[in-house]
Amino acid sequence: MHVFALLSWPFYATIVGIKLCLLLPLLWKWKYPLSTIPGPRMAAWTRLWWSKTMYFGRSAEVLIRLNREYGPVVRIGPKTVIVNDPHTIRRVLAVNSGYVRGPWFDSLRTDPRVSNVVSERDPKKHQQCRQILAGAIWMTLLDEQQRSSKESKSEFRLNLSKVLPYLSMDIITHICIDESFGNVMTDTDQYELLKTLTTAMVVQQYRASLPELNTLLLWIGRLPMLRDVMYPSANSPGGLGQLMQILEEKVRQKTAATHTQSQTRNMLDSFLSKGLDTGHAASEVLVVLFSAVGATAYTLQGIIRGIISNPSVHLTLQREIDMLVRDQGVGASDLVSDTPLRRIPYLQACISEGVRMYPVITQLREQVVPPEGDNLHGYFVPGGTFVALNGHSSQFDPTFGNDLELYQPERWLIDDRILLTKMQRNLDLNFGYGSSKCLGANLAEIEMNKTIFELFRIYSVVLGNPERPWVSRGDFVLADFNVILTKRSPHGQTNGVSCS
Ligand code: HEM
Repeated sequence: MHVFALLSWPFYATIVGIKLCLLLPLLWKWKYPLSTIPGPRMAAWTRLWWSKTMYFGRSAEVLIRLNREYGPVVRIGPKTVIVNDPHTIRRVLAVNSGYVRGPWFDSLRTDPRVSNVVSERDPKKHQQCRQILAGAIWMTLLDEQQRSSKESKSEFRLNLSKVLPYLSMDIITHICIDESFGNVMTDTDQYELLKTLTTAMVVQQYRASLPELNTLLLWIGRLPMLRDVMYPSANSPGGLGQLMQILEEKVRQKTAATHTQSQTRNMLDSFLSKGLDTGHAASEVLVVLFSAVGATAYTLQGIIRGIISNPSVHLTLQREIDMLVRDQGVGASDLVSDTPLRRIPYLQACISEGVRMYPVITQLREQVVPPEGDNLHGYFVPGGTFVALNGHSSQFDPTFGNDLELYQPERWLIDDRILLTKMQRNLDLNFGYGSSKCLGANLAEIEMNKTIFELFRIYSVVLGNPERPWVSRGDFVLADFNVILTKRSPHGQTNGVSCS
């Protein structure tokens, strides 16, 4: 019998039957039991649509639209749903909720072999990491004033997307290793840390959007010859390798000095006193640098944009600042500590509104549903499903009132204490919650208070390019946020540019 005689219809039918048998469970797994949850059509089959959204810089806008269009639970991947309700987000992130971090967090590793505080998925190990870091950050919390403007001209243009990350970097390196990098003074991105942060963020987001690809890359990255190319180490080419060498050298110096000097002073000292080895201590410092700089610089830019886009807000803020300066008898070059700044209601309202309007958490930060499953807004989601947290959309919750697309500090100046407490709780989600709460929130608050206060005390600020205030790619890395600063007179009147 000729071999082609085998290719008759019963043969084809058998092949198709076998394929269907193999494929159906797979299709079933893809489609169900999340099939009742609404969402973009492609999402039931693949997460590639999300990678495409990021590529076009539309992630922030799409995150807001998703829950608006489909409701409080949206299916965004074959195995992933996203929620935006602040109460549900808190429930998922609560300590002992049963939820654990998903493979999304593997994309935050700086070493394929070892996890760090932001990427650790094992709840116990994560808590241990947090304890070490929390102690270190609290102990070394900014205890001295930082002032770093070398400009003395009365009017000048400044690119805040460059200057604010430089400032945050100088502050955090001072805290971590007792040595400010001097980015602001030299107007240089020392060790190309910001350049690395900017590109690493893009890579991390794509890797996080495709967990299977990330698992493969983690595996490849363990090969010694590729590790130094794919992950930061003292052997990495360029500025980051140089920085790792410096950090490791600092660790070695500290270790050598331990016999003569046992007092814990900076964050590095604190890590070492907890028994971290050289490589681990250096890479945790790097993680703190990355966590602190991008988030703080972005939030500051958001707050400033909100203030200077609204002339009446700008004017009211300066009036309140001037009042404090007068009441406290503060001289033109005196520095004001953080405590009185927390008592200027309008300053605090401007900061809160900026944090709300420009949330740092533009990413999915997926958590895994506990084995018994969970009920999310009436939908059953089985154990193992990934639940992404829509931090962006949570800041448009009705608790915050009306006109949520508008920057309105006044929404925070109400008499209703109960409502204010609810608003504050929802706002606090911008710093994470429960087992993942930001470890630098206190430091971030000090930086925000002091930067905004000093900036508007000394200068009047206007947008350099009102048509396109900044260039955003949908995450918290911004470019070209240019502003024009005009020095104010010591009694609080603007020289030149008016705010009307
Ligand atoms: C306005 C500025 C900041 C914002 C909005 C912010 C926001 C956040 C958020 C949302 C998380 C939670 C991440 C998660 O869910 O896994 C987080 C974690 C973290 N933040 Fe911040 N952060 C800011 C500034 C800082 C600063 C200044 C530092 C360092 C001194 C810092 C250090 C950390 C660390 C170490 C973690 C990891 C905690 C963990 O994974 O357990 N952050 N931050």
